[in-house]
Amino acid sequence: MERLAETAARPLTVSAAARPLGGEIAVPGDKSISHRALMFAALARGVTRISGLLEGEDVLRTAAAMRALGADIRREGAEWVVESAGVQGFSEPSDVLDMGNSGTAARLLSGILSGLPFTCFMTGDASLRGRPMRRVTTPLSANGAVFVTRADEKLPMAIVGNGSPAPIVYRMPVASAQVKSAILLAGLNATGATRVEEPVATRDHTENMLRHFGVPVTIEADARGGRVITLDGPARLTAWDVIVPGDPSSAAFPIVAALLVPGSEIVISNVGLNALRTGLFVTLREMGADLTVVGERVEGGEPVGDLRVRAGVLRGVDVPPERAPSMIDEYPVLAVACAFAEGPSRLRGLAELRVKESDRLAATVALLTANGAAVHVEGDDMIVEGRQSGRPLGGGTVETRMDHRLAMSAIVMGLAASRPVTIDDTAFIETSFPGFVTLMNVLGAGIGA
Ligand code: S3P
Repeated sequence: MERLAETAARPLTVSAAARPLGGEIAVPGDKSISHRALMFAALARGVTRISGLLEGEDVLRTAAAMRALGADIRREGAEWVVESAGVQGFSEPSDVLDMGNSGTAARLLSGILSGLPFTCFMTGDASLRGRPMRRVTTPLSANGAVFVTRADEKLPMAIVGNGSPAPIVYRMPVASAQVKSAILLAGLNATGATRVEEPVATRDHTENMLRHFGVPVTIEADARGGRVITLDGPARLTAWDVIVPGDPSSAAFPIVAALLVPGSEIVISNVGLNALRTGLFVTLREMGADLTVVGERVEGGEPVGDLRVRAGVLRGVDVPPERAPSMIDEYPVLAVACAFAEGPSRLRGLAELRVKESDRLAATVALLTANGAAVHVEGDDMIVEGRQSGRPLGGGTVETRMDHRLAMSAIVMGLAASRPVTIDDTAFIETSFPGFVTLMNVLGAGIGA
């Protein structure tokens, strides 16, 4: 599968940092919010200006798809400008929509397309074509759309939209912000109340941004940590400017690196601090991390702040399963931190990791094992034994498996380990964190080929 930005795949070797990491950086814009900003701006009638948009390959795929549907999307200086006639101006794309590596793009767009009066074809790269789409095709079919998929509901698929969709009422069997968002987006074109019940609260960027674009959304919390989200359709969006904060899931990598490389002290400015995204920060503090927020403020409807991180000794941790949705993308790099911690860690309830860009449960175990850490899986839990006395970490080769977060976790492992870590392919980092290696080297990481 062709990549948007052609980055040659090449082996990359990482050594432990020769000196402590130091300095101040800003990480790229939040991936979840960037996808939504482009989609919602295209659904709205008028002109939306977006600042801080992540210019990673995943988000560029969303931009290309929204253009194919009829929106005008262009970069003007540091901003992205979306000009659209709204959903009424959308028409049948003349080619297959290729969502590349991005599950968020594929699933959210499926929701939008299910309620439109034409047929679209969607595909993705080898990783995305292996990921489950049943989680959206099953609930979305209830609005009258028809999905024609490969065996086992995999991409490529045809989406035969229903221009007069019925509102969907659905209790989600898995905690998934992507599924919730797909159903809510389908509800924009339906007449009546769309209602999604989630067993555990997941990231609420869709709810926040729908409100931001003028659509009333009702959120009721239940006593067990779940939520019921209701939206009355049909609802039209009004163009409204968006400020995208730095991505906490990207900040996770320099944060863990700075905690593990002795003597480090760094600041990461302008990081999104939505409470449904910051489970890693809670967990790292439980491990004894010196991680503080300075200057917390609200920007573009989302809390943001600057994070100051100082290296120190970490201890093992027991992470409860209900925390998983608020840190679902952070487990590979947390597992690396746990490998350097004193004492064992238990990361509970990780079934969803099996269906990410790779089988992240298996891939994280392979990453740690190849680098001398003791780790195993019990049911849906990962147990990391922590620093083994006298056993040097590092020295292994890590297979990225088309998974950006695996590649970055392996690099962090290399920075803190006593022997170099080799990574087979770092090109997929471009999907979520363009400039990662350069930025880490600004902190003094000394990552080399
Ligand atoms: C995302 C939701 C999460 C996360 C993904 C982005 C989103 O997936 O892993 O990287 O933007 O809604 P699930 O909702 O499938 O857990």
